[in-house]
Amino acid sequence: MKVTVVGAGAVGASCAEYIAIKNFASEVVLLDIKEGYAEGKAMDLMQCASLNAFDTKITGVTNDYSKTAGSDIAVITSGIPRKPGMTREELIGINAGIVKTVSANLIEHSPNVIMVVVSNPMDTMTYLVHKTTNLPKHRIIGMGGALDSARFKYRLAEALEAPISDVDGMVIGGHSDKGMVPLTSHATRNSIRVSEFLSTERLQQVAEDTKVGGATLTGLLGTSAWYAPGAAVSGLVQAIACDQKKIFPCSTYLEGEYGLSDLCIGVPVILGRNGIEKIVDVPLSDAEKAKMKESAEGVKKTNGLLEL
Ligand code: 2OP
Repeated sequence: MKVTVVGAGAVGASCAEYIAIKNFASEVVLLDIKEGYAEGKAMDLMQCASLNAFDTKITGVTNDYSKTAGSDIAVITSGIPRKPGMTREELIGINAGIVKTVSANLIEHSPNVIMVVVSNPMDTMTYLVHKTTNLPKHRIIGMGGALDSARFKYRLAEALEAPISDVDGMVIGGHSDKGMVPLTSHATRNSIRVSEFLSTERLQQVAEDTKVGGATLTGLLGTSAWYAPGAAVSGLVQAIACDQKKIFPCSTYLEGEYGLSDLCIGVPVILGRNGIEKIVDVPLSDAEKAKMKESAEGVKKTNGLLEL
């Protein structure tokens, strides 16, 4: 199993690290445009191999896509991250050009690749890959919901004063501060609805804290987060590589599902060796349906800024 990660910045390097630590891939190629940067990160990560007990071989390359040839899965993290006070949508101008070029280069050398898009604004970048490549839609996956759900579970555990392993919950919708739809009515603590433990107001606060999870970290760090994004990507890549058939919320091209079409937005999907193997239809309350509709309108507005 060969995995390429494009962009050796904090998110890309963290993806490579978590993928290697989970030890399911034979090879990870880390590619960056900055001379020697990916090579350096790869060497540093490889020097963790004996310490962290992994056999995955990580190599770094400077913009040489021939070294990515035959990749089964490719993760696109390239582009600029947001700075404090910026929305993910403001990155579109620079990142659209980068993602278009990167995806074309990847496909040229790995025509059977499954693509995981992380660059922001992620739902629009996923749509861009859908519109500008000939990849079938089940091989284009946007990573946002898995991260947002991890942040939701963190906030739920905090509010419940419970261990995170006791908590389950999912965030669908767009990967943006306003567009996320945390499914509070479906969230559980060891199969008991969290509404049994938390007031409506507290749950509302959990949802709001979840939605600004990325912005909160950007404010603290001065740039966007990387550990949880890297861990979330590695979860998706592992589910595909190991044919796990796990459910994650991912951004995917919709054609009528959830009453939406001609956009990529986060909905629950089953991930396996073929990429997105099924879109799972979760019954939503009227309020959740309305939020999903509003979220889709926001994503479509950002998609409208693309020069296709
Ligand atoms: C975040 O939410 C990277 O969009 C990403 O942290």
